Amino acid sequence: MSQRTKVKQILLDEKTDYNVVVKGWIRSFRNNQFIALNDGSTNNNIQIVLDQNSVSAELIKRLTTGASISVSGTVIPSLGKGQRVEIKAVELEVLGDCDGEKYPLQLKNRPSLEYLREIAHLRFRTNTFGAVFRLRHSLAFAVHKFFNEKGFVYLHTPIITASDAEGAGEMFRVSTLDPKNPPLTENGDIDYKEDFFGKATNLTVSGQLEGELGAMAFGDIYTFGPTFRAENSNTARHLAEFWMIEPEMAFYDLEDNMNLAEEFIKSVISYALANNREDLEFLAARLAEEEKQKPQQERSEMGLIEKLEFVLNNEFQRLTYTEAIDILKNSKPNKSKKFNYLIEEWGADLQSEHERYLVEKHFRKPVILTDYPAAIKAFYMKQNADGKTVRAMDILFPGIGEIVGGSQREESLDKLVKRMEEMKLPVEEMSWYLDTRRFGTAPHAGFGLGFERLVLFVTGMGNIRDVIPFPRTPKSAEF
Ligand code: 4AD
Ligand code: MG
Repeated sequence: MSQRTKVKQILLDEKTDYNVVVKGWIRSFRNNQFIALNDGSTNNNIQIVLDQNSVSAELIKRLTTGASISVSGTVIPSLGKGQRVEIKAVELEVLGDCDGEKYPLQLKNRPSLEYLREIAHLRFRTNTFGAVFRLRHSLAFAVHKFFNEKGFVYLHTPIITASDAEGAGEMFRVSTLDPKNPPLTENGDIDYKEDFFGKATNLTVSGQLEGELGAMAFGDIYTFGPTFRAENSNTARHLAEFWMIEPEMAFYDLEDNMNLAEEFIKSVISYALANNREDLEFLAARLAEEEKQKPQQERSEMGLIEKLEFVLNNEFQRLTYTEAIDILKNSKPNKSKKFNYLIEEWGADLQSEHERYLVEKHFRKPVILTDYPAAIKAFYMKQNADGKTVRAMDILFPGIGEIVGGSQREESLDKLVKRMEEMKLPVEEMSWYLDTRRFGTAPHAGFGLGFERLVLFVTGMGNIRDVIPFPRTPKSAEF
């Protein structure tokens, strides 16, 4: 198979008078002469010009939207507007026909995102999803680049696990037992001793606990892998399967943790701005179009690129949960009963409307909230001297809400065991985890960043289902 040149390269080089082979899918064909070809390397199609005298009527019929073709030809200056170069075809071969009548992306009108979600297996072939998933790729690359340059070790934590890292019980069971006829214990419970691993196992909700083992040996580690939550949240911010990045650092306190998280987020956004300009500009234009449909007062003041630059150029606002509650109490921006009730209760978890108020109306920038009430946070967080709060931090982003959750960890074995007992967690079974505190415990901290929420922010998309290639949500797992 002959080598092909990527369209992105040809457009970037802007050189002419040389021969190339390009391969891709037809986006449009007009006047029996001009093909707009897309090969996935960029949203910009390259124009292929046919010599009308040398193409048969039979071939012309096969040049339908969606068909895949191979073209060899000469790159020449283009007379058309919008592009500097085009390809004069010398040879053209249809590699795969595409029946225009049946092809779902043949539609004349721009398909809605909802419709494209129904045909998610084909949506990569649209400009919007081309841009989104090239950006997702770049952001993933930037994550590894950032940690690699800082000397962190990428630790692969298990996907199948026997422990519930967050202690929230939102896990998918992994079992090979016959669901219709499982072995039972004397009490009539399912006997997981008979199961594949000899105990009950689940898909992981977080790689943190295993990450802590790594941090206690390598110093600085990070994980980047799929995590699973069986929470029945059908929102534009929740997935049942999402990717999380979890750095864990020995000898870090909460402030070091916040500093790293802020630097990290800024670094990956800045990578995208520097390396994915074209796709960002495409998505910015798309978003601006969408904003125009909204009533004036709901429109965002900033465009996508301005918003990303704003995050880069401003420090995140840091404050405690208690300070945030005071701000909310004094503002009462929303007369809804639910809202007022919640803000008056110190100790309640913030609802998304509270988070939005703080980030979008009060501070108008990303916010890091610290020192949450212990009762609403996980067991492993370092307890403050006040006996009520823990060294937690959540980073809240405009339009997204919580993008990062993290904390300094409780390094005292006694305090940790006591807390686990209070929360009725299986201390015995988690003895392996407690060894981090038994043998050479050290102050340490870490955080988890939901990768899709980052991709949402950077692409300006509105629904988390549109930034993961194959979304899994309650009652929906295609493919
Ligand atoms: O706040 P969470 O639950 O924290 C942890 O899992 C810790 N073990 C992290 C750590 O300290 N190492 O989740 C972390 C982040 C959230 O801030 C959010 O961005 C994302 O993961 N997240 C989800 N993203 C999409 N869909 C869901 N259902 C998510 N649940 C959490
Ligand atoms: Mg959280």
